[in-house]
Amino acid sequence: MENSKKEKRKTFTRRKFLQGFGGGALSAAVVPKLLAQDVVSLRLKEGTVPLYSKKQITLTVNGNKFSLVVEPRETLLHLLRDRLNLTGTKRTCDRGECGGCTVLMDGNPTYSCLYLAVRADGKKITTIEGLATEKKLHSVQQAFIDKDAYQCGFCSPGFVMSSVALLNKNKNPTLEEIKTALSGNICRCGNYLKIYQAISAASKSMRRL
Ligand code: FES
Ligand code: FES
Repeated sequence: MENSKKEKRKTFTRRKFLQGFGGGALSAAVVPKLLAQDVVSLRLKEGTVPLYSKKQITLTVNGNKFSLVVEPRETLLHLLRDRLNLTGTKRTCDRGECGGCTVLMDGNPTYSCLYLAVRADGKKITTIEGLATEKKLHSVQQAFIDKDAYQCGFCSPGFVMSSVALLNKNKNPTLEEIKTALSGNICRCGNYLKIYQAISAASKSMRRL
């Protein structure tokens, strides 16, 4: 008995181990595929829409109307950057932590990386590209330049959009109100002081308009 165990151990070579591992990896790759197919064919009831169906949506982005077919998993950020080529909206963390992807949705600051495109059906979206006119930057954009409120600039579009949302609702915010409104945006370069100064300057110039 002991001898047959030893025999077995001897014949279990490295090559056999790797072959076994390869087989396991292969079956692991096949299983999710089968499951995905099952999900596609899954229906709530006879005659209803499959769970994994695409959907046609219509939304307005920077004043232009778009009709698009979207997958249920597609984010608004993906739609804006990769399909409409509006790359001013930044994909930084892609998981709701930094605010770099902030856009205005019906006037409210929204993380586009966390917002599914299907839910944007019928919404009005403004991105950083939609703020300036041909001749003039938005007051907040101009103030960011005047006050040097950026270093690498990667966070700037998100900060600008959150600031515009604030100033559209509150023309004369206190420093505390500014900090609260921008609490969902992170600047890795740590340029907060100048960002706050820029927003104060923008609020003054917007009040003059
Ligand atoms: S990219 Fe959306 S919150 Fe960071
Ligand atoms: S200016 Fe670099 S992250 Fe804010």
